[in-house]
Amino acid sequence: MIGSTPNPGNPPPPEAGDAPDTPGNPVFGRLRERILRDGPVSVATFMQTALSDPDGGYYTTRDPFGVAGDFTTSPEISQMFGELVGLWCVDTWQKLGAPGAFALVELGPGRGTLMADALRAMQQVPACRSAASVHLVETSPTLREIQQRTLHANNVTWHTGLPDLGRTPTIFIANEFLDALPVNQYVKRDGRWCERVVAFDHERERLCFALDRTSGLPAGSVARELSGTRDGDTFEYSPSVRATVSDIAYHLFLNRGAALIIDYGHTRHATGLTMQAVRRHRPIDPLELPGDCDLTAHVDFQLVAETARAARTKVFGPVDQGAFLQRLGIVERANALLKRANVSQALDIRAALNRLISPKEMGVLFKVMAIGDEQIEHLAGFPADD
Ligand SMILES: C[S@@+](CC[C@H](N)C(=O)[O-])C[C@H]1O[C@@H](n2cnc3c(N)ncnc32)[C@H](O)[C@@H]1O
Repeated sequence: MIGSTPNPGNPPPPEAGDAPDTPGNPVFGRLRERILRDGPVSVATFMQTALSDPDGGYYTTRDPFGVAGDFTTSPEISQMFGELVGLWCVDTWQKLGAPGAFALVELGPGRGTLMADALRAMQQVPACRSAASVHLVETSPTLREIQQRTLHANNVTWHTGLPDLGRTPTIFIANEFLDALPVNQYVKRDGRWCERVVAFDHERERLCFALDRTSGLPAGSVARELSGTRDGDTFEYSPSVRATVSDIAYHLFLNRGAALIIDYGHTRHATGLTMQAVRRHRPIDPLELPGDCDLTAHVDFQLVAETARAARTKVFGPVDQGAFLQRLGIVERANALLKRANVSQALDIRAALNRLISPKEMGVLFKVMAIGDEQIEHLAGFPADD
């Protein structure tokens, strides 16, 4: 999410006046009750509950995008982003041999803006557009309603989890989806990894972090690169990211297709805690307002790549978002839009272009990775030798 630069450590505590309101969200009460009854919960359980609780979960209850919300994303910055993703889909469809039917699946589609812009761009190749059956994977009823309004002119099927697509070639799109999936956290103590959990501080009547020395890292979840770690080091691991990527990759292996993943994160396994909370475009303490702030964690792109390769699919990238969009022709697209723009529109187009591709903005922080079936030699936007 853009609103503040994702913080590689824990965000600073909220400033006076920025944060709450006493913890009145039903999510806080539910977590408190559960912890008092059953003991501390994992960070992944905390994150999952805070984001997706059916009553008070952050995504369940609101539209968090834009200036009046908590953050913004690339498709909300400019139509150019979704249009170029749409053209990437057309090119990928051609590389698949232009099948007469394929599934186009977006995970975590937000307001539906990316898909609307992508489908409009795909109309340039009518055979591709008409071959696509569109599927959206969305758990939030609130965002689903907004997506229905945005995409009303299109035939779309909604799902709460990865759909069973049968033997259909598929193109998956996931922009800022994996960073919303829950992570577990670990701290190295006395030579072994112990789980960092969320407990309840009775004195201060608030949630707090604690260490569970009886729970360690699941076997096989840390790569050899992490063998040089020392006491006090920290590490995040997301079983949800691994399971999601594994399901996607096996589908691509069996049925052909590709997945485009755009997110912020690290290109190699790395130590450090990255779960952060953002509210009204500023970082806050992640335990302060569960259900009332966005929670994300950096994506471990090495985990994504290793998981995809284990399912016998090919990995392209990761490359910087700025380089990816420029290879797809974002500068040319901006110039075409500028020819028809008035002065104020021209300012907006230039600002959006800068925001999406500048190394100081989203151009380097955000990475793009693709997963493709074994027969795909190259995918647009990635270097030729990738
Ligand atoms: C940060 S938003 C990204 C939205 C959109 N891709 C964009 O770029 O504007 C995360 C999206 O993922 C959805 N989401 C979060 N967790 C999910 C899950 N486990 N399954 C399906 N959707 C989820 C949210 O409701 C939201 O639509």
